[in-house]
Amino acid sequence: MFFVFKRNNFFWRITSFLNFFIKSLSQGKSRNVFIKKMLGSILKMDLKPGNYIKIEQVRNLLRGNPELIELEQFGAGSFNKNPKEVQVKDIAEQSLSKPWQCKILFRLGRETGAKTIIELGTSLGISTSYLASLNHGSTVYTFEGSHVLTQYARVVFNSLNLNNIEISEGNFDTTLPEILKKLPHVDFSFIDGNHTFEATKKYFDWLVNKSSDHSVIVMDDIYWSKEMYRAWKEIIKHPKVKASINLYKFGIIFLNPKAAGHYKVFTKNLFDI
Ligand SMILES: C[S@@+](CC[C@H](N)C(=O)[O-])C[C@H]1O[C@@H](n2cnc3c(N)ncnc32)[C@H](O)[C@@H]1O
Repeated sequence: MFFVFKRNNFFWRITSFLNFFIKSLSQGKSRNVFIKKMLGSILKMDLKPGNYIKIEQVRNLLRGNPELIELEQFGAGSFNKNPKEVQVKDIAEQSLSKPWQCKILFRLGRETGAKTIIELGTSLGISTSYLASLNHGSTVYTFEGSHVLTQYARVVFNSLNLNNIEISEGNFDTTLPEILKKLPHVDFSFIDGNHTFEATKKYFDWLVNKSSDHSVIVMDDIYWSKEMYRAWKEIIKHPKVKASINLYKFGIIFLNPKAAGHYKVFTKNLFDI
């Protein structure tokens, strides 16, 4: 049964990727002006190395760290058997947003002037560090269930001298509403944990209720499973959502009335490691 499920998912991923790719070609380059400008800003490679080189040095250190840690399992986990003990280097290799994704998150935050940022899923703190480096008075509220990962993440933030990050430790189901109660609004949300249909929809609903016209919401791993893709398809139909960019690995949602349309955009960065 487990094998059949895995194999179905494998075939689904291949066919869904082909589908995504063909649709991205057929949509062509005719896009709403807001989206065209946004894509131009977030996909171009204009980041000065100073913005990210130190974070990538830390990522490389983590990629070489053989330490075994006892990991509590939160959310949907992976399709492989969830090990209780994992090496830090495996987490750094397999569970974190890749450098190209982190650069897009950074540029998106910069482009939209995001000040209040929420990240669901800190892990070792790499994507958090990118978001905290925006350097324009922003605060990143990041959430993680695993105690040992929050300890690692704190070390990462200290080593990068990032002091605009607040970590909430515990299940998103309880920690997220507690923080949202205190915030007047959220400018930027990155949903990167608990990849189940119900949880993803629930977190989106909580976050969209705290978002304004200028806010963006990023959903990671939208093709990770059929249920994640179903969640994405439903979420982009929400009445507050004006436009979306589906980059296959993740999707960006815009609430800005100037934005319109739903676009699948293929970028060769998808194959970057
Ligand atoms: C994919 S990792 C985050 C990666 C990180 N954003 C990055 O790109 O560097 C997802 C994290 O979310 C955490 N997580 C998943 N579901 C959770 C839940 N319901 N409550 C708290 N933490 C959860 C996991 O422990 C895991 O560390």
